[in-house]
Amino acid sequence: MDFDIADPALAGAGARRIAWAGRRMPVLESLRERFRAERPLEGRTVAACLHVTAETANLMLALRDGGAKVLLCASNPLSTQDDVAAALVEDGIPVFAVRGEDPDRYYRHIHAVLDAEPDVTMDDGADLATILHTERTELNPVGSTEETTTGVIRLRAMANDGTLRLPVVAVNDSATKHLFDNRYGTGQSAIDGILRATNVLLAGSTVVVVGYGDCGRGVADRSSGFGAKVVVVEVDPIRALEAAMDGHQVLTADDAAATGDVFVTVTGNKHVLRGRHFERMKDGAILSNAGHFDIELDLEALAAMAVARRPVRENLEAFDLADGRSLFVAAEGRLVNLGAAEGHPADVMDMSFANQAMAAEWLIVNGSGLKPAIYTLPEHLDAEVATIKLATMGCGLEQLTEEQKRYLASWNEGT
Ligand code: NAI
Repeated sequence: MDFDIADPALAGAGARRIAWAGRRMPVLESLRERFRAERPLEGRTVAACLHVTAETANLMLALRDGGAKVLLCASNPLSTQDDVAAALVEDGIPVFAVRGEDPDRYYRHIHAVLDAEPDVTMDDGADLATILHTERTELNPVGSTEETTTGVIRLRAMANDGTLRLPVVAVNDSATKHLFDNRYGTGQSAIDGILRATNVLLAGSTVVVVGYGDCGRGVADRSSGFGAKVVVVEVDPIRALEAAMDGHQVLTADDAAATGDVFVTVTGNKHVLRGRHFERMKDGAILSNAGHFDIELDLEALAAMAVARRPVRENLEAFDLADGRSLFVAAEGRLVNLGAAEGHPADVMDMSFANQAMAAEWLIVNGSGLKPAIYTLPEHLDAEVATIKLATMGCGLEQLTEEQKRYLASWNEGT
């Protein structure tokens, strides 16, 4: 079996972490049981480009139990958990991912999984899909799935200009993905990454959150929970208003720059904090990004302003500026929750990856009849995922009575 990982000897540690995560993924497990019995992916090949984490490993094992041949590469050079990669290889799943790999190796790995001529591709950030549209146009998968907001935006842009050549399921658009993974997953794990990289006290400090989408509101909410004062920077007036009414201070990036102790960018946009903002920041300010790509902080501009750069702690680098201030960048400006911590908790990836597994099955069942376009999984699957999750959390779900159903469906039953 062909693979490329850091160290096969890490397999034991990886297997223990995969098992721990698996215990906390009951929705995926229930799907895996059905997959074992029904083998809906029998004889098919799935090539996945996802963060190589313990949670992803559980998805890979579920797909394999569904009958698929599965290959995995990383969707970010810094998010790979080398022990997990080793455990999957020991389990017979080819993995091409090494934490800290350079761009050449990163793209070699993407090509390596595509060499298997997959029936379904799985993306987190649309890197596989992009290569399928540029360098590997000879390949014709039945379809692809996309995990994250940034990937869906890229793929919608391809659909809009008529270049998209395969059906894509936007897993991010399922309610049981973005309302929970982006919000509670990113909210908690971005803070986790910042704390592991810095060990600063958030209570009483000012956390500036740039972008108040699903992820941003999670980060803001969790920061408040730690006792931080939260400042939100937004370009969308509705979301800015929501942030204000959620109790946060809403400022322009220029004004926020001068107030923040810790900055978190989560916009999916480019250079949202740049030279003019770095000029205004306090000595000691900590900069981090939880958006998909490492483009949200303009680190080239910061490097150009710096007279020296030095490592301070694991996953934390100081940029010493000519005026005597130092700014500190966590996880090289890459996704801080995956670069400096372990990514989202398994409990929330449970739902995201149940959606991924269902999307792979849905593409195999429906793929040949689908046009190249962006699809969302049927709503009843969202309800199914949420219902199973609620049950495993010990929650009760009230049911409508027949009288209530009739009332809600009527227009003439008055006061
Ligand atoms: P979203 O679209 O819901 O929110 C993004 C927000 O940023 C929007 O409200 C937008 O108006 C705002 N924004 C855009 N440009 C801005 C600017 N210059 N200044 C201030 N605000 C600006 O997106 P979502 O779902 O919150 O995702 C954000 C990013 O996080 C994406 O790149 C996504 O792929 C990524 N993501 C990262 C995860 C992680 O594990 N770290 C998990 C899920 C998503």
